[in-house]
Amino acid sequence: MDRIRITGGRKLNGSIPISGAKNATLPLMIASLLTDQVLVLENVPRLADVNLLQRILGNHGVDITVNGKRVGETQYDGQTLHINAGNIIDTTAPYELVSRMRASFWVIAPLVARMGQARVSMPGGCAIGTRPVDLLLMALSSLGAEIEIDRGYVIARAPDGLKGGTIAFPKVTVSGTHVAVMAASLARGSTVIENAAREPEIGDVADCLNKMGAKISGAGTSRIVIEGVPKLTGARHRVVPDRIETGTYAMAVAMTGGDVVLENARPELLQAAFDVLAHVGVEVTPTNAGVRVARNGSGIAPVEVTTSPFPGFPTDLQAQLMALMTRAKGTSRITETIFENRFMHVQELVRLGAHIALDGECATIEGVETLTGAPVMATDLRASVSLVIAALAAEGETMVHRVYHLDRGFERLEDKLSACGAAIERVSG
Ligand code: EPU
Repeated sequence: MDRIRITGGRKLNGSIPISGAKNATLPLMIASLLTDQVLVLENVPRLADVNLLQRILGNHGVDITVNGKRVGETQYDGQTLHINAGNIIDTTAPYELVSRMRASFWVIAPLVARMGQARVSMPGGCAIGTRPVDLLLMALSSLGAEIEIDRGYVIARAPDGLKGGTIAFPKVTVSGTHVAVMAASLARGSTVIENAAREPEIGDVADCLNKMGAKISGAGTSRIVIEGVPKLTGARHRVVPDRIETGTYAMAVAMTGGDVVLENARPELLQAAFDVLAHVGVEVTPTNAGVRVARNGSGIAPVEVTTSPFPGFPTDLQAQLMALMTRAKGTSRITETIFENRFMHVQELVRLGAHIALDGECATIEGVETLTGAPVMATDLRASVSLVIAALAAEGETMVHRVYHLDRGFERLEDKLSACGAAIERVSG
């Protein structure tokens, strides 16, 4: 199994290209099931999760071809996927595949909307909490799907098609909103989604669906209205830049000091995180190329931050911010409100010398002068990258194990960081 070796203490300087967003790419690929025509996705990141979803969609009969590199393209240009779900041969998503990636459960929406039925394994437990699917099923029932649970599988049926309806989510859910939008696009009549998630990835998928002929308005607000259409067509769509990757590298620069341009980054997609970084003492400047992030000389100021749905501070940057706060000049408090049990990085950060106390959903971090390298491992993607951030500023060598978590969501992480001066390398085997 691959590991990543980091020797801390170097500043980051240069530029880092930001890839297409993982959390937009996955639902966009799943949305391809809504049409029998070809959906072309550009700027798709090279990630293990994307490869796995390709296999999962392949199991339903979807053909995906990936364009080779074009003249003038660099290794960082995203891939272009041609996705053809013209012939769906199987509406079952089996346990072996769904249990490896929770988001693949979302295929239930396009399958029941277009094919009138779907049989999808319940995703089961997950490293960052229980993460139920009750609200996804509530959304599908509100559109007239009959739902049955049978031996670990959810069976959704709508033999005469889905019917528009009102879906009022009792809590903000990204997965629930994706499922509701996809299903309602092909339902008869109109659907109103109340208390919808406002994450930019919802807007990106809605933009793509509208190019495919859907009639969605209000995506990006908490009230989305969808006029169902009988059929969707092919389209070409470029995936939005990854705001979590952007925020992660911004935290890394904040941690080490230095001056880095995050190319293609869209600052308006993570204003809450940039506001926190400004408070910490980091300069964040939008430029024509993206966003410039710099910290020179000044120390790291402590913060009090609570995660919340967009436009609040994202849970997917909570671990990275905590890594940064381990070296703040004072005491920070970070409260996680989206997922219970999303604190697995705490014990690993402590192994590097951090002082962190946990009390329920609240972590108190006493900044320390120095972190010291050690072997560490983490059980989820964002937790793993928080260890990388800490290691970049730790004295000596840190070996990060279980790198496959990083490969799920960060494209060429070690290349991007070493190009900016970090001492980081992948050790195979
Ligand atoms: N929830 C329910 N019932 C449901 C669905 C969700 O109670 O039926 C709860 C969840 O347990 C959680 C909260 O609602 O407590 C929010 O969950 P949400 O549905 O918003 O999250 P998700 O769609 O499962 C996506 C991202 C996550 C990100 C969250 C929050 C993808 C593929 N995943 O998950 O990303 O943390 O939204 O922004 O888009 C990651 O990339 O590392 C990651 C975990």
